[in-house]
Amino acid sequence: MTEQLWTDVDRYIDARVAPPDPVLEAALREAQDAGLPAISVSPSQGKLLTVLARSINARRVLELGTLAGYSTIWLARALPPDGRVVTLEFDPKHAAVAQKNFERAKLAPMIDLRVGPAIETLPKLAAEKLDPFDFVFIDADKPNTPEYFEWALKLSRPGALIIVDNIVRDGKLANLASDDASVRAMQRFMDSLARLSTENRVVASAVQTVGSKGYDGFAIALKL
Ligand code: SAH
Ligand code: DHB
Ligand code: MG
Repeated sequence: MTEQLWTDVDRYIDARVAPPDPVLEAALREAQDAGLPAISVSPSQGKLLTVLARSINARRVLELGTLAGYSTIWLARALPPDGRVVTLEFDPKHAAVAQKNFERAKLAPMIDLRVGPAIETLPKLAAEKLDPFDFVFIDADKPNTPEYFEWALKLSRPGALIIVDNIVRDGKLANLASDDASVRAMQRFMDSLARLSTENRVVASAVQTVGSKGYDGFAIALKL
């Protein structure tokens, strides 16, 4: 089995659940033209974010790691007209591309893009005493994932869904001898997920994925 086959199957699936969409295609084109890395979620993964957000009637979404705003658009589209996405991005160049994409998508009024290191923005959000989030998508710098998950729990309501992207990384997750900071962070995160599950603070799972984005996976936690 090859990455080509995974990509072919993604093409088959995308054609049915995430058919061509001018706004999303333009967002990816802008990202590419600006030289941003091609690490947005795939179309079917974006659609999964929409399905999950809609399944809990999410109105307030927090995203960590905006890039060009591709996943942000999938999330914003899942919300009712008075819904809101707060999305955190470190790189001002990425943020500028994303903001332009939100405007083209006519979603800018519902998306609050905050530029800066998420670890500094999160305490500021907490101080603003916003309504708690219904849905959190963690997809920023991987070494800080365990801390981001703690913040996600703090800033969300009981019944909120928290998704953590890129936990498997070509299977490195299971290599307990890895000295890769991202892998070690995902292992720390998974161990904390196990502890939180035992304490009945979350009900959680994690799933391996293959597709046009290679071999990776995500974790999903329902805050109790
Ligand atoms: N969610 C996007 C992809 C995000 S890629 C999508 O699927 O469409 C990860 C992003 O996190 C990059 O844009 C990167 O600049 C950003 N990032 C890296 N370190 C960060 C930090 N400390 N705080 C916030 N964002 C960060
Ligand atoms: C990388 C980051 C991502 O969020 C992703 O989905 C894939 C790759 C990366 O930093 O390499
Ligand atoms: Mg990702």
